[in-house]
Amino acid sequence: MKNIVVFASGTGTNFQAIIDSIDAGDITDAQICGLVASKPGIEAIERARRHSIPVHVVQKSNFKTEQQFSDKLEEVLSHLNPDLIVLAGYLHKIPSEIISKFPQKIINIHPALLPKYGGKGYYGHHVHEAVLEHGDKVSGCTVHYVNEKYDQGPIIEQREVTVEKNDTPETLAKRVSREEHQLLPSVIEKIIHNKS
Ligand code: GRF
Repeated sequence: MKNIVVFASGTGTNFQAIIDSIDAGDITDAQICGLVASKPGIEAIERARRHSIPVHVVQKSNFKTEQQFSDKLEEVLSHLNPDLIVLAGYLHKIPSEIISKFPQKIINIHPALLPKYGGKGYYGHHVHEAVLEHGDKVSGCTVHYVNEKYDQGPIIEQREVTVEKNDTPETLAKRVSREEHQLLPSVIEKIIHNKS
């Protein structure tokens, strides 16, 4: 049985997609052993509670230094002992100590076709606004390994979404999100069981 830890900062629809895929048997022989939430009160926490998944709130602003934040994450993760860490809408940078402790074991989902529209400032609606402003005909989503450089780790898989003439950031976000909910569980299944 593989242990998956999910990090989230918001609504957690991707987190839900992982929960549902395990329930449906699309992700096999795995369990989500914990949710690491970046603050209290987020919807992802409610989803975890509904599914009896242990929640660990690690709020960066509660720590005086980056080191203390990193130490806390490390403590939580060594207790959870994950085979895979999934950043599903997690807004903080993962400290480099954590990245080196879990080589090739941390993945992230991003709502654009990286390397386009990645890095600082490109999150949520900002990404889709930029795609529309640039007049791109295609957008999509990317799952990639997490390294020290924000949104720049090796790409694992992408899905494309056609940009429609009348798209707004909201309509585009909705279609990209639907693809994310397919892509992320399918990548997780491949990675944890070494399927290519
Ligand atoms: C997703 O669009 C994901 O690509 C990005 O943050 C969003 C999270 O959405 N990293 P949700 O919380 O899973 O609904």
